[in-house]
Amino acid sequence: MLITMKEMLVEAQKKGYAVPAPNVWNESSVRAALLAAEESKSPVILDCSFMERSYGEKAAKVMYEQMLYTIPWSKDATIPVAINLDHGMQYHHAVTAVRAGFTSIMVDRSSLPFAENVRQVKELVDIAHAVGVSVEAELGHVGEGETYDAKSNLTDPEEAVKYVELTGVDCLAVAVGTAHGAYSGTPYIDFERLEEIRRSVSIPLVMHGGSGTGDDNLYKAARSGICKVNLYTDLVTAGMEAIRKLDLGSSNDFSFVEDAAYEGYKEKLKLYMALFGSAGQA
Ligand code: G3H
Ligand code: ZN
Repeated sequence: MLITMKEMLVEAQKKGYAVPAPNVWNESSVRAALLAAEESKSPVILDCSFMERSYGEKAAKVMYEQMLYTIPWSKDATIPVAINLDHGMQYHHAVTAVRAGFTSIMVDRSSLPFAENVRQVKELVDIAHAVGVSVEAELGHVGEGETYDAKSNLTDPEEAVKYVELTGVDCLAVAVGTAHGAYSGTPYIDFERLEEIRRSVSIPLVMHGGSGTGDDNLYKAARSGICKVNLYTDLVTAGMEAIRKLDLGSSNDFSFVEDAAYEGYKEKLKLYMALFGSAGQA
């Protein structure tokens, strides 16, 4: 069943769990994410990115083609599915995603000064809301794990109140100590700051950089106002670990290697559905 991310996260907020948002980039990853959710009876957010690094100016065309199976598979799924544009950095990314049938878009202007972040996000909130698409945005900035600094660019709770009022976003990605990818240091999550943000703003909160953050941190975050957790690195790492366990022998057929990789991705995602409390909620 295909729904907006707003509908999905408001339900998660009410019931006190977090929905996993695995990155997906092709048929196999979409299939693995949907299978994980159906086997766990969990809602799921398919987080798709514009693949400009791989496809250049063809990225929009590829995005449309990917939606040709993502949308019908999501509608046919036995669990709630939202399709979100992850880290939409360009105006045309957002508009293309809305036209392609996404039910949600992330308008990421977190590297810009507050006023410009607000202006650009608000402009796209008006467009997306006009056609029933929900919007995620980010205040503060979640950086990269390889240059991890638990204290940098954290979300200011008072600014968050103003930001949500001025933009009208449906959910807010916050910087409270997570980072994208593998951490170069020990993850430190500022739960006091998270609690202050949760008390200050009424909309669901989002955590980027879920991988490597630690099960205890994620378990606590999912019960402290975080309603969506983005995941990529841990899922593809689990896929690689599954490949390494294979006895490749003299086989020349990589299809069984691919099957193992996506099985690893799927099983890791199911572990996170249990940890976040979303398993069994659908
Ligand atoms: O937007 C994508 C996620 O934030 C991925 O982060 O690779 O640390 O799980 P991760
Ligand atoms: Zn992210």
